[in-house]
Parts: sequence; structure tokens; C-alpha cells
Amino acid sequence: MHRAAIIGAGHTRFGVLEAGPRALLSTAVGEALASVDRNLERSQVQEAFLATLGFGGWQIGNASAALAEESGRVGIPVTRIENACASGGFAIRAAVRAVERGDRDVVLVAGLEKMTDVPNARRRYWLGVSGDTEWERLAGLTFAGVYGLIASLYLAEHRVGPEALAEVAVKNHENGGLNPNAQFRNALRRDDVLRAPRVAEPLGLLDCCPVSDGAAALLITRDDLASRFTDTPVHIDGTGAGSDYLAVQEREHITHFDASRRAAEEAFREAGVARKAISLLEVHDCFTIAELLALEDLGFAGDGEAAGLTLSGATRRTGRLPVNPDGGLKAKGHPIGATGVSQAYEVFVQLRRQAGARQVPGAERALTHNVGGSGASAAVTLYSVG
Ligand code: COA
Repeated sequence: MHRAAIIGAGHTRFGVLEAGPRALLSTAVGEALASVDRNLERSQVQEAFLATLGFGGWQIGNASAALAEESGRVGIPVTRIENACASGGFAIRAAVRAVERGDRDVVLVAGLEKMTDVPNARRRYWLGVSGDTEWERLAGLTFAGVYGLIASLYLAEHRVGPEALAEVAVKNHENGGLNPNAQFRNALRRDDVLRAPRVAEPLGLLDCCPVSDGAAALLITRDDLASRFTDTPVHIDGTGAGSDYLAVQEREHITHFDASRRAAEEAFREAGVARKAISLLEVHDCFTIAELLALEDLGFAGDGEAAGLTLSGATRRTGRLPVNPDGGLKAKGHPIGATGVSQAYEVFVQLRRQAGARQVPGAERALTHNVGGSGASAAVTLYSVG
């Protein structure tokens, strides 16, 4: 089987943007094409995958055609992938499988969401659609409310205080300050997070990712063709994915996401690498508690140990296990369909030593972790350079 490699990547700014969905797609794809070092024409892109929820219903059906138009490739097959906030991770997986089968040489993956032009009540509705309807949404539970309940149980089970949650936000804002594409570039102190207005106890405003606009794109080829296009391809060594019950109450655990565990197991098995070989992680920190769960579910911390690991500074950009050097969903922003693709963009620039002020020294292997809803789906991908 052929392995896959990333040869180009593009990214818009994330935040409250004037550009509409088509312009965002066009910018991200244009930047990805321009980033390829040599020998790639637009016409060589043979297939594309679009990750988007279609927030607010901007193009609830057939958004794929918009990507074909905006990438200048009307005529090629384009598939839309929608797995809530994990859409990007699953679109990467689909593209990797397409090149691994050997029937495509160059595949485009784009992720997109335009969220900020939707009025508040409608926003709440659209944020809720990725959770369970019967037991959660119709009972009045907001999306932040689900994570608030998970966080309460985690803190009680492991007898840790909210400082560990706050530290995730402090670290990710520090990293976001170094990322020109990030929605928030301001530094936070632990007290700012702990004293921010409450959203869903124990989560406050600064424990939440924002509502964002943005797009990202990747160009993926077969590993054996990559040297035509660049001397520094980023290899995709393994991908894994998993699912779980939609309603949190149906699951075996509440403070673990089995979908993430399954996805990580598959990705590590496929790549044949050990956790200790990974130089940096891009994990799905939609709420601060989610970063702690991710560290445990992915096998980088034992049960309840992610809090201590975070408070020790190990997950800072200069720590032993840098997590979310781009600012994560918390500071960089979370345009739903774009997020998983944006995580791979960060890995692409980090492993090629092109991350500028936020460069993680010596980064050679990386992991991305993208979660859908409150843990009902997850995709994990492993990358290396050299
Ligand atoms: N972090 C930091 N600041 C935030 C923020 C966040 N997550 N969300 C909003 N702000 C800031 C805004 O920039 C604005 O600042 P300003 O007054 O200086 O301009 C202020 O807070 C008010 O913004 P507004 O958009 O009115 O906030 P809101 O109360 O409507 O929404 C949340 C705040 C937390 C409820 C909203 O961001 C949210 O729902 N986030 C979660 C999104 C989500 O669930 N995504 C899917 C997860 S998988």
C-alpha cells in the first residue's frame, strides 16, 4: 500500500471575518497551491474532500460544488464530509485512503465554517445540532452545558481544582499570541480565567472556544510521488477513527471519550510508533476540560493525571510535551469544519520548521486529534518529517 504525504497547506485568519464562505475557501486553497515548492498545477488536483457543518444552513446541501468552483476544478469528484467538529479529521482520513489505494495522485482537502454572521439564538441551535437531540438538546442542555457536566465530574472524581482547567486557557492564549492567524492573541492570567463570567459551571467564558469564521486546506499526494513537489513532504504515518453513543448518558464512561481512545489505538498501530516518539500534539480543546480528557484518552497521561501534567508546565510550547502550539481551538478559534484541517496545517509548518515565533524546537513527529460533538466521533492522525 502507498503511504500519503502533505505537500502544501493554506490557512485563512480565524476570527470574526468579513469574507463569506466562498472567499474563505478560495483563499485557503489558493494559499495551499502556492505553498507547494515546485511542479504542481491546479489541474493536477484529481479529487477533493470538503469538511463543513454548513453552520446556519449557508449551503446545507451540495457545498462540494462550491469547493470545485472556488478551487478552479469544476468537474472533479468532490465529497462533503460532515462529522460535526471532527469533519476535518475525517476528511483527511478519506483523502489519505484515496491516495493510499493508488487511484489518485493529488487530492485536495478543505475545511470551512462561516459562523459569526448567524444571530445568537440560531447560533445556539446550530452549536447544539452536534449533540444528542432527545436527551440533551430538547431537555434544555446547551453544548457548553454538556462539557460543564463532564468537567464537574472530572474535578470531583480526581479531586482537582479548576486551576488545571484555567491553565489550559492560559497556555493556549500564550501560544495564540504567537500565531498571526489566531482569533485571540491576548495573554491571560489564571485569575482572569477563574473570575470570568460563568457559562456552565465550572466552565467560564475563558474556558470556552469562541465562535469563528475560517478555512484551511491541504494538498495530499502519494509518498512515492512527493519528491516531485518538495524536498520536505510531511508523511502521514497512520490515521485512526472511532465513534461512540451520541448521548453522553449512554456511554460506559463520562470522563473518557472512547471514540478518541479507539482512534488513537488504530493510528498508533498503523504507524508503528511509540507515544514517546511524538514531539507535539494538536488536540481538540473546544473547552478547557477537553484538553485534559484528550491527554488521557490519547495515552499521554494516566487517569486524572492530565491536570498535574498541565499545571507542571510540561504541555507548554517549551515543555516536554508541547500541546496546541498554535493556540488550540481556545485561542486560535474553532470554525467547526476547518478545525481538523487547521490542526494538520500547524503540523505541516511545525515539522517543516516554518512556524516562526511559535516553532517547537526539534519537532519531528506530531499527532492531531479532532473530536465531533461531545465525544461521539474522533479522528487521530500521526505525521513525521525526514
Ligand atoms: N473566549 C474569550 N473571549 C470570548 C469568547 C471566548 N470563547 N467568546 C466571546 N468572547 C469575547 C468576545 O470577543 C467579546 O469581546 P468584546 O466585548 O471585547 O468584543 C465578548 O466576549 C462577548 O462576545 P459574544 O460573542 O457576545 O459572547 P457570547 O456570550 O455570545 O458567547 C460563548 C460566548 C462562550 C457562549 C460562545 O463563544 C460559545 O458558545 N462558545 C463555544 C462554541 C462551541 O460550542 N463550539 C463547538 C465546540 S465543539
